[in-house]
Amino acid sequence: MQHLLPHLEANKDKYLQELIDLLKIPSVSANPQFAADVRKAGEFTAAKLKEAGADKVELCETSGYPIVYGEKIIDPSLPTVLVYGHYDVQPADPIELWTSPPFEPVVKDGNIYARGSADDKGQFYMHVKAFELMMQHQALPCNVKFMIEGEEEVGSENLETFVKANTERLKCDVVLISDTAIIANDVPSITVGLRGLAYLQVEVTGPNRDLHSGIYGGAVANPINILCEMIASLHDKNRQITIPGFYDDVTDVSEAERNMMNSAPFDINDYKKHLDIAEVLGEKGYTTIERTSIRPTLDVNGIWGGYTGEGAKTVLPSKAFAKISMRLVPNQDNKKISKLFEAHFKSIAPPYVTVKVEDMHGGEAAVTPTDSIAYQAASKAMQTTFGKEPLPMRSGGSIPIVTMFERVLNTKSVLMGFGLDSDAIHSPNEHYGLYNFYKGIETIPYFFKYFAALSK
Ligand code: BES
Ligand code: MN
Ligand code: MN
Repeated sequence: MQHLLPHLEANKDKYLQELIDLLKIPSVSANPQFAADVRKAGEFTAAKLKEAGADKVELCETSGYPIVYGEKIIDPSLPTVLVYGHYDVQPADPIELWTSPPFEPVVKDGNIYARGSADDKGQFYMHVKAFELMMQHQALPCNVKFMIEGEEEVGSENLETFVKANTERLKCDVVLISDTAIIANDVPSITVGLRGLAYLQVEVTGPNRDLHSGIYGGAVANPINILCEMIASLHDKNRQITIPGFYDDVTDVSEAERNMMNSAPFDINDYKKHLDIAEVLGEKGYTTIERTSIRPTLDVNGIWGGYTGEGAKTVLPSKAFAKISMRLVPNQDNKKISKLFEAHFKSIAPPYVTVKVEDMHGGEAAVTPTDSIAYQAASKAMQTTFGKEPLPMRSGGSIPIVTMFERVLNTKSVLMGFGLDSDAIHSPNEHYGLYNFYKGIETIPYFFKYFAALSK
């Protein structure tokens, strides 16, 4: 695969320019205003896959956004890698906090700044280019299939139906995903665990209309005040979640694994400095690494109600809302947790308000094996290009389709991502290192090489 390196060198600017073209398309799946652009990003992806040499490229329609499929079967008796990624992105809000517009990519200090640069356009596009390189230089050692979807950031609602209807077409020996991070550019890692997710929206209603806060204030419950009290009660003084039964299915992680994860390079002072916080806060008895990977959490993602416009308006609002999510760990069932949340949240509502709870989306946690051929192939590939053996690390993020692939296709995934936690995914000024982009393109062919060789 070393013979690909000069060709990668010679094409760096071209690859970057193509990524910039993709990043210019505002494919925000959460906002119907961008529906045409989401499709456009799918079409762009399909066209590039075709150009790269994929066969049977198709924009597969779903009841939502299309799934891009393509494949190269060089010999049905050889193993097959299914590459999964997503061409949709998170909303760019709050736009005013971006130093350059989110859909006008800018290269600065070795990074490309744009929404989706790291999550996941910059990462899945590495696979398209690595595939193209292998095709151009007769270096593809096994079969490859691509499935790039456009609804990951909104819960992959139509993916399971598609996968179930296409089990034969998607048949593979491993699912390869680059949609996670490494510890640092000089500390490569492979993600071996992801958290699950339960996401709900709550609505608290007080009086039947907005009231003058002078005339009624003090006598009628303010639903925003009440909502805040209810939310505050969801954690106890040890920062444990108070929903009865919440921890029932949590499996404890062994001392050995905890020791290993805590020995990974991590500087709490750098961490705090990076975020401009004086102290961290989390569940008592666990380290920051553990709190963000092996422990479940509850967070308010957004809260609103009453008057939020310019200036001051004196009002006692009728309604208050919040979007609340819980990150879950292996063995916790997201649907069960959503039900526990709903029952508890309603039970703590005082008689002065009424409460509605809506389950938005969710997904299961995942643990991926480290004793598989595919993990070994990823490990050797990274060892080759980074010059260091990657560490297995659990991540706090969620990619719910990983367990779905296990369930429906009976296939395990390898999470060989190249981002950094500091890439600001989902935040203003998301960026992706050019180093990481090119390192990914360099590493992926080695994965194919070692996976094919080890499968023999
Ligand atoms: N790529 C992320 C997940 C991720 C990021 C995992 C970093 C590990 C490290 C993915 O696009 C994502 O944002 N997932 C959502 C969940 C989804 C159901 C909306 C998440 O984790 O919030
Ligand atoms: Mn992603
Ligand atoms: Mn994301």
